[in-house]
Amino acid sequence: MSKKTDTPPVETIKRVGIVGAGTMGAGIGQISALKGFQVVLFDIKEDFLKRGRTQIETSLAKGKARGKLTDDDLQRVNENLITTLKLKETAQCDLVIEAVPENMALKKEIFQELDALAPDGTILSSNTSSLSVTEIAGATKNPDRIAGLHFFNPVPLMKLVEIIRGERTDPRIIETLKVFAQAVGKTPVIAKDTPGFIVNRVARPFYGEALRLLGEQATSHETIDEVLKEAGGFKMGPFELMDLIGLDVNFAVTQSVYEAYFHEPRYKPHIIQRRMVDAGLLGRKTNQGFYTYDSKKA
Ligand SMILES: NC(=O)c1ccc[n+]([C@@H]2O[C@H](COP(=O)([O-])OP(=O)(O)OC[C@H]3O[C@@H](n4cnc5c(N)ncnc54)[C@H](O)[C@@H]3O)[C@@H](O)[C@H]2O)c1
Repeated sequence: MSKKTDTPPVETIKRVGIVGAGTMGAGIGQISALKGFQVVLFDIKEDFLKRGRTQIETSLAKGKARGKLTDDDLQRVNENLITTLKLKETAQCDLVIEAVPENMALKKEIFQELDALAPDGTILSSNTSSLSVTEIAGATKNPDRIAGLHFFNPVPLMKLVEIIRGERTDPRIIETLKVFAQAVGKTPVIAKDTPGFIVNRVARPFYGEALRLLGEQATSHETIDEVLKEAGGFKMGPFELMDLIGLDVNFAVTQSVYEAYFHEPRYKPHIIQRRMVDAGLLGRKTNQGFYTYDSKKA
């Protein structure tokens, strides 16, 4: 029996805890701190926290160079964001956003810990791209306070946020998350807990067919990207996007949607993805994916 059922969710979120200071966690921390929330960013190693801080500093510097951010903005982020190696400190927030790798066992473990550490009324959310929020919540004692809060990459630029309602999510939490998403400058859309939700579901064939074309040696990945940008009007081609997202992350999402739909052939992963992940060719984060990147320039 859930002990949180009678506890109204916090209507005003002031402190945001983030678990995982990687690409997404650092980005979510950055925009939350920029909009005046107190952010407590957690990771398992000091080096990972440092890397997260560097990502934030680089992004802020770019924003300033483009005239989108002022020195006051940079100072506000600096003042509002702290990092920690203690999960307990992150759990003591009004809203916790988990952004660790796309792995169900890991997410369940973290939500069990968070559920035990967080005070009543704290909302626990996952930035998962495709895993079942209902299944993650089912591993805890209080599934009613758990929802999906799915930001897109790069977080400072992408407007959309999917709010995912698990089978047992308290509807009041969805409303609170909607207000939070708007407060950090995003456009929320609410979706039920289906594999891939909305965006990652419709995006599967975008990557899948491009990979099959490449696998059949129809043409080069550069050409496929160019054609989709020129003729299709996409801002980025599928291979550029996989490099941006991370080949590992994209492969994990593909596998999870494929599994969740009982091996529906339309969602089948491609051997190219597996080989590249095995080889550590993960895209921009390793400076090599389908394209080669210069880390200094980046
Ligand atoms: N990369 C994208 O384009 C993208 C977009 C939307 C959503 N997502 C989702 O966001 C989540 C995170 O993805 P990412 O791209 O930021 O991954 P990432 O690999 O860049 O970052 C993950 C972070 O989690 C940390 N971590 C690992 N184990 C941990 C633990 N036990 N406790 C705390 N932190 C731990 C890692 O040190 C790392 O800093 C995934 O669920 C992913 O599917 C990713």
